[in-house]
Amino acid sequence: MSKRVAVLLGGISSEREVSLVSGNAVADALNSKGYDVVKIDVGNDLSATIDALTPAPDVVFNALHGRYGEDGCIQGTLDLLNIPYTHSGVLASAMAMDKPMAKRLFEQAGIPCAKHVIASREAVLAGDVMDPPYVVKPLNEGSSVGVQIVSNGESNREMSEAEWSFDDKVMVEKYIPGREITVAVMGDRALGVTELRTDDGFYDYDAKYTEGRTTHIVPAPLPPSISDTAMAHALLAHKTLGCRGVTRADLRYDDTQSDPGNLIMLEINTQPGMTPLSLVPEQAAHVGIEFGDLVSWMVEDAACGN
Ligand SMILES: Nc1ncnc2c1ncn2[C@@H]1O[C@H](COP(=O)(O)OP(=O)(O)O)[C@@H](O)[C@H]1O
Ligand SMILES: [Mg+2]
Repeated sequence: MSKRVAVLLGGISSEREVSLVSGNAVADALNSKGYDVVKIDVGNDLSATIDALTPAPDVVFNALHGRYGEDGCIQGTLDLLNIPYTHSGVLASAMAMDKPMAKRLFEQAGIPCAKHVIASREAVLAGDVMDPPYVVKPLNEGSSVGVQIVSNGESNREMSEAEWSFDDKVMVEKYIPGREITVAVMGDRALGVTELRTDDGFYDYDAKYTEGRTTHIVPAPLPPSISDTAMAHALLAHKTLGCRGVTRADLRYDDTQSDPGNLIMLEINTQPGMTPLSLVPEQAAHVGIEFGDLVSWMVEDAACGN
């Protein structure tokens, strides 16, 4: 009998639309690999929805992004229901989602990160809390939602009470010039390095999801020592937080001050985008793992607990 897989998609985070695309692509690919697939658009009644499924799912494929789906909440629910699920467990998910927490652990492990301070929304709105240029971001969002770059002498920030729907505490991080790169990790292996080039250099929500706005260059045209270090840092970050399955690390490569320059870790994503055109599937394809095989591996790798 084929395994029954419940694919969780949609959800109630700001990344709902992205998750619908990921989840539908994953469901189609698993179907064509012979799995018995059922899709669940996740609300806050997830346990009841799963309980009502007959037959019960053997595995959950979590294709959610953002709050609740990526931060340990759904993972805790699935632990309680004792159903193996893809990607990281409760603790790793929660730590990766909390950018200051993740950076503290990365730095302890020897992975360079950008300097930051935590400030209130009011303080950031009132003036510069560090020398510009800097980046203002919510502590625990994804897809560049809420991320703003503040350059020298610039005073506009979209952070009035009406505009800022995130926590009152925000992260203000030193702006790292240079290039945008990302590294996928699959189990105990970093798959490769992709460079992302946008017309204005900022990889914001629009650049991430508007076709044609960003060029993906894989493998990234970097000095071999930099590519190797980027992959080593991504794998170390994955292991440091105790992640499972697939993750994706976002880094900056600052080659503007010195040669060969510095790598700076921004974050790791425990629920990276999973459309066939997303970055992780693209890197997997580059090393010969097609989308259907990638998602099948994830289903077979699923587990409960940490
Ligand atoms: N310190 C920084 N310096 C330069 N660019 C940054 C910095 N922080 C974020 N960015 C830009 O914003 C994007 C989103 O930031 P990131 O920390 O990865 O959060 P998210 O979880 O929203 O993806 C990055 O991919 C990068 O383009
Ligand atoms: Mg990111």
